[in-house]
Formats: sequence, structure tokens, C-alpha cells
Amino acid sequence: MRLIDSPADLQRLTRSLPRPVAFVPTMGALHRGHLALVTRAKEVAAGSGTTVVSVFVNPTQFGPNEDFQRYPRPFEQDCEKLAGLGCDLVFAPSAEAMYRPYASVIVHESSLSRTLCGASRPGHFDGVCTVVTKLFHLVQPDFAIFGQKDFQQLAIIRRLVRDLDFPVEIIGVPTVREADGLAMSSRNDYLSPEERAQAPILHQVLEAAATRVREKTVLSPDQLVKWMRAALEEAPLANIDYVAVADPETLEAKPTLTPPLVLAVAVYFGRTRLIDNTLLESIDG
Ligand code: PAJ
Repeated sequence: MRLIDSPADLQRLTRSLPRPVAFVPTMGALHRGHLALVTRAKEVAAGSGTTVVSVFVNPTQFGPNEDFQRYPRPFEQDCEKLAGLGCDLVFAPSAEAMYRPYASVIVHESSLSRTLCGASRPGHFDGVCTVVTKLFHLVQPDFAIFGQKDFQQLAIIRRLVRDLDFPVEIIGVPTVREADGLAMSSRNDYLSPEERAQAPILHQVLEAAATRVREKTVLSPDQLVKWMRAALEEAPLANIDYVAVADPETLEAKPTLTPPLVLAVAVYFGRTRLIDNTLLESIDG
């Protein structure tokens, strides 16, 4: 497995990489969710191609009071995990190498990023779109793999690629969960034992809500959001950021409970913000 930290070196090498190139952007602190994306990348690279993973805690997507400084960076363990899966190339630049002084161009998605996490984390998706654009230019992938756990991010990246004509096929991978249903996240490590014990409530409420939609025991999105809020509040340590019933294409609030729809939640446990979602593609799906 080759390790590269210089954007210029990577860009020079990219032209000669065996294709297809399958790329997984990450911020490291790799868990089984990330590794599922890498496994998918290996499949897509189909033996003769190249699997590239980036490990970069991107400063521009963190707000001033967010966890950029304390975000976990277990780089050696990450490399061991990636080597174990047969990853071909790891790109791990420094922030200084990625962003020039006075960098003044950003990539802004102006529609899908206004709701959900975009409303709670101003500027977050500008940071994501800008870094993913830079990474796509550096890696020149044929495929890029993202998790459905970050449903809004995936939708925004699909829009970025569509609207700016990136020659990259975006592949979404289902959310990988702990045994008790909690979606895997590098941020789960921040949780105290009490918070960790209550955190599966996100998944439980989403599943119960999806059942209510399928069985038509709730009649309107408003009623469903109210029910989900009350159910989440059963966990004494949970502080709701948002609960949404949205159109999976536009991410706007849905006026009716007719699928396709995405149920999405963001909940604070102390300072730790957890997100999860469930997609209902049809009434029996
Ligand atoms: P990060 O949070 O490290 O996630 C990297 C990728 O792993 C994302 O596509 C995310 O959706 C996926 N992922 C995380 N947890 C997952 C889980 N439990 N199951 C399946 N996939 C999961 O997302 C980012 O980094 C950054 O915003 C990035 C795209 C790298 C840009 O900086």
C-alpha cells in the first residue's frame, strides 16, 4: 500500500494508476462503516483497478465551536486496517498542503444544503463540497463511494457531480450499525457510558416511525414528527437538533406521507451530535 501526503505527488501519479480507480474519501478514525465502503471500492475496482482512500480531517467543514481539534486521528491503526483490506493507495495530506494561504474559492451547493444538517451547521456543506471537489481533481476517480448514513451529504455530492460534470460515478453504501442498532460513527467514542446506552434510541425511533408510515397508523408528516420527538425525548440525555420527514430528492419537507421519503434525525448527547436516517422507497419497502 502506497502512502502519499503531497497533493502534487498524487496528481502526478494519478495519470498512471490502473483503471478503474475507486475512491473512498474519509476523515479517518476508521470503523466498520468506512471499511464497508473500502470493501465496495475493492469490488468496483475489480481486481485490475486501483482503490484509493483519503484520510483528511478537513478543517473547512467544521464550525468554530465544533470538534475539529479533538476529532480522533489514529492514523497508524487506520493504515493497518486499510492495508488489511488490500487498499492500494492512501492519501493523507496536511491541512497546509491542501489549503493555500488566503484560499478564496469555495464550492457552494445552494439548494439541498439549506435544510437538515445544513441549517444546523452553517458552512458545513461548503467545506464538504470544496474538499470533495479538490479530492476528485487530485484522485481523478472513476467511482467514488459514500455512506447512506450521511444521507444529505450523499445527495449533495450527487448534485455536485451532476451540476459540475465530474466524470465520476457515485455509489451509496447502506449504513453499518452496532449490534444494538446505533449507526457506526467516529463520534460514538465521545459518548459517556450513560449516553452510549441511550444512543440506540435514534435507530429505534426511526424504525418505529417507518413502521407507522407503512401501517398507516400516522396520517401526516406533522403528526409523525410530533410522535418521533416525543419518542426521542424518552431518552433523558437526548437533546433534539432536528426531526424531519423529507423528500429524498429535494430534501424539502414532505407535505404527505407518500413514499419515497426519508426520515432523518439529529440528536445531541452532551456536546456529541449524532445523526441517522431511514429511507422509505415504497409503502412496503
Ligand atoms: P467521514 O465522517 O469519515 O465518513 C467517510 C465516509 O464514511 C462517508 O461517506 C460516510 O457517509 C461513511 N460512513 C460513516 N459512517 C458510516 C456507517 N456507519 N455506515 C456506512 N458508511 C458510513 O463524511 C466524511 O468523512 C467527510 O465529510 C468527507 C466526505 C470525507 C469530506 O471531508
